[in-house]
Amino acid sequence: MNQMIAYLAPEGFVNDLATELGEVTSIHERLVLAEGPLRPSTWAANVWLEPVRLPITSIADAVRKLRAIQGDWALYSFHLHRRAQLIAAQLPSVAVKPSMFPASPPARTIGSWTLMDEHTLLASARCSCPWPNGEIEFIENHDATPSRAYLKLWELFSRLQVWPQIGDRCIDLGACPGGWTWVLQGLGARVLAVDKAPLAPRVATLPSVEFRKESAFGLKPEPVDWLFSDVICYPSRLLELVQRWLPVCLNMVCTVKFQGGTDHAVMRELAAIPGSQLVHLHHNRHELTWFRLARNR
Ligand SMILES: C[S@@+](CC[C@H](N)C(=O)[O-])C[C@H]1O[C@@H](n2cnc3c(N)ncnc32)[C@H](O)[C@@H]1O
Repeated sequence: MNQMIAYLAPEGFVNDLATELGEVTSIHERLVLAEGPLRPSTWAANVWLEPVRLPITSIADAVRKLRAIQGDWALYSFHLHRRAQLIAAQLPSVAVKPSMFPASPPARTIGSWTLMDEHTLLASARCSCPWPNGEIEFIENHDATPSRAYLKLWELFSRLQVWPQIGDRCIDLGACPGGWTWVLQGLGARVLAVDKAPLAPRVATLPSVEFRKESAFGLKPEPVDWLFSDVICYPSRLLELVQRWLPVCLNMVCTVKFQGGTDHAVMRELAAIPGSQLVHLHHNRHELTWFRLARNR
């Protein structure tokens, strides 16, 4: 029989994850169990790659069995919360404090576990995401930025440990009010911000920021180090834009925004672009982040 795999959905997106996975064995609030092999899971915040079921006779027995495998464990609890908390309290704390940008992954390997019933643990020492339950938090900068959208770029750059370098030329489509442009400029990049609406004055007046008030879709593709898009548009329109810019851009990062239902067909087309990836970031809402990096071309 195939190894069972557990996929943890972000808050509010378990249906998207289950649809993407296809036939699943069981769903426990945000935790979806499905038979292996590993399946594409854009909507998973974390994947428990090698979960094992462990019979337990008591709280102390659960702690002993988890510690026998490794030290650090993050709990995802969907029921029996009090019993689960009593076990977690006897394990080392894996709470990760909000980080400054850029964040580094936790130095320790953190496994994931849950209580399936009073006498059974499900535990996976190996997971897809180094942050507990796929959640990465930052010390936010409320004063300098005009929107919280900048957290998406902070998260992506921290997860990949890649970001634009000093002097890199970036185009930021759908830049208003300017959170992304603020991040890119702060890294030392030169930014052309494009939007039909104006940038917040505190971003527009930063050095190395140029603003063009026009539609992202009318702009002729030109070679740049990085193309960014956070434009609000139908996913199919974004796909066309991506296809036009792909041949001339090294690195591309685009938010795929869904209005109403999730467009699974466009998701699959974007995910199939060679060298690219489609992910749901902790700071994404009903949207995904598609990216293609020069290093993966
Ligand atoms: C979610 S906001 C972008 C937030 C921005 N990334 C930030 O960090 O502040 C989406 C933007 O897309 C812009 N937009 C929508 N249609 C557009 C188009 N055709 N061309 C350019 N910008 C467009 C909107 O004006 C809006 O400012």
